[in-house]
Amino acid sequence: MKIKPIDATPSSTLYEQVADRIRTLISEGTLQDGDRLPSVRKLHQQLSISISTVLEAYRSLEDQGVIEARPQSGYFVKPVHLNPPDEPHQCTLPKQALPVDISLAFRVSETMRDTCNVGLGTAVPGIELLPVDALNRLMGKILRTNPALLHTYSPSNGCEALRHEVAKRLMEAGCSLSPDDLVITNGATEAIHLALRAVTKPGDIVAIESPTYYGFLEILESLHLKALEISTHPKDGISLEQLEIALEQRPIAACLLVSNFSNPLGSCMSDSKKKHLLELLERYDVPLIEDDTYGETFLSGHRPKAIKAFDTTERVLYCASVSKTLSPGLRIGWCAPGRYQMKVQQLKMAMNWTTAIAPQLTVAAFLSTGSYDRHLRHLRRAYQAQLSRMTQAICEYFPCPTRVTRPGGGHVLWLELPNEFDAMALYEKALEHRISVAPGNMFSPSGNYTNCLRLNCGLPWSQTINDAMQTLGSLVKQQLAKKMLGVEERNDGLE
Ligand SMILES: Cc1ncc(COP(=O)(O)O)c(C=O)c1O
Repeated sequence: MKIKPIDATPSSTLYEQVADRIRTLISEGTLQDGDRLPSVRKLHQQLSISISTVLEAYRSLEDQGVIEARPQSGYFVKPVHLNPPDEPHQCTLPKQALPVDISLAFRVSETMRDTCNVGLGTAVPGIELLPVDALNRLMGKILRTNPALLHTYSPSNGCEALRHEVAKRLMEAGCSLSPDDLVITNGATEAIHLALRAVTKPGDIVAIESPTYYGFLEILESLHLKALEISTHPKDGISLEQLEIALEQRPIAACLLVSNFSNPLGSCMSDSKKKHLLELLERYDVPLIEDDTYGETFLSGHRPKAIKAFDTTERVLYCASVSKTLSPGLRIGWCAPGRYQMKVQQLKMAMNWTTAIAPQLTVAAFLSTGSYDRHLRHLRRAYQAQLSRMTQAICEYFPCPTRVTRPGGGHVLWLELPNEFDAMALYEKALEHRISVAPGNMFSPSGNYTNCLRLNCGLPWSQTINDAMQTLGSLVKQQLAKKMLGVEERNDGLE
């Protein structure tokens, strides 16, 4: 293993730089739990620094609990011996469909995007993990070789080259689609927006997972749709029993869910559940909007199949993007609308005619090079390492019992704290410490989950994140202790 040479930067000492390098190798997954670190002598030779500097770096990492010394054997990445915390409960939900109010989500997501805060609120990958240089080089080459082409419109359903690459990749999700079955969009957000518009009218009811990605709520609100929350399990997703009861009781215009590694729960439906869901929707003749934005972020085994793979009646409007794997800023997503193809294409034209051509060609070029799979392997290792470090930090710093999800993909964790915990109060307090978190009630139109939090694990582990987690843990403990005291005081008063 080669460690990058040390720069002579005045802002940090030599030993801190060495410790940082090792921490990065661990957070990116190059060094994994139990792996042996380079010997002190080897690092001293490789980096041309003194033995005492290497030792100081290793000792500081040891103090932080990142590595451990084993007698006569050297230094090793400290395995995360977790007694994994319990997973959150499934929630009991209101039985009526509700209009959506996104004023809270809007206010909170504004502060979550503030780059001055430690970004544990938004679900974004760390920029260090994305192939920024390769994408910039490809875009530069496209700009040089095709300067005029970039200033023209692409067809409204998107560039053929990109649709071709996406259709090829979707074979791994079990889908047999031709490039003509796809419409390229501005991210998954636009794909979902178009899909919802194609199958609903204002006032309709849409069945959603609970908790659900708050971006869905923003779209539902903008289209004047009502949301019906369906209980969802952190492991295998939406409850088909609850969905069936809902379908029996009222007209539901569409079902909208994340099939693989949902946001925020990280749940992933089994193949048999995906088939049962389709059978159920077929019985009630309801279209499904499937968001598979996280499908390629599986942490072990194989890429899970899309529900679209089992769709024999063309009722699935499949949506996804490269925002969690390549670049959220290029805004490249797609929709495979099945029987609603013409409608979605027309809506896309009416909305903004087409998606900008330069990002489309850049993503097409990246997908065609074969570098994508190599990049994904690296990214998944990094997400896995980060999820496990964050879980470890929760075990260390948060009060017991804090329940935490164990997602098999994606890069977010969902935490459930005792009922008296107030996630909004923590959100406000954490902002004073320049830390952003996503309070649970953002993920529910009925304002459920006031005792829950979502944490982003997309950023490489660092001292800053460690400190932020420690601060959050103390703030949670302080808040709960105050509440306990308050209850005791009230009880005293009553007696
Ligand atoms: C489940 C889910 N779908 C869609 C999006 C947004 O995707 P895009 O940036 O491609 O519009 C997100 C972003 O967090 C997400 O979590």
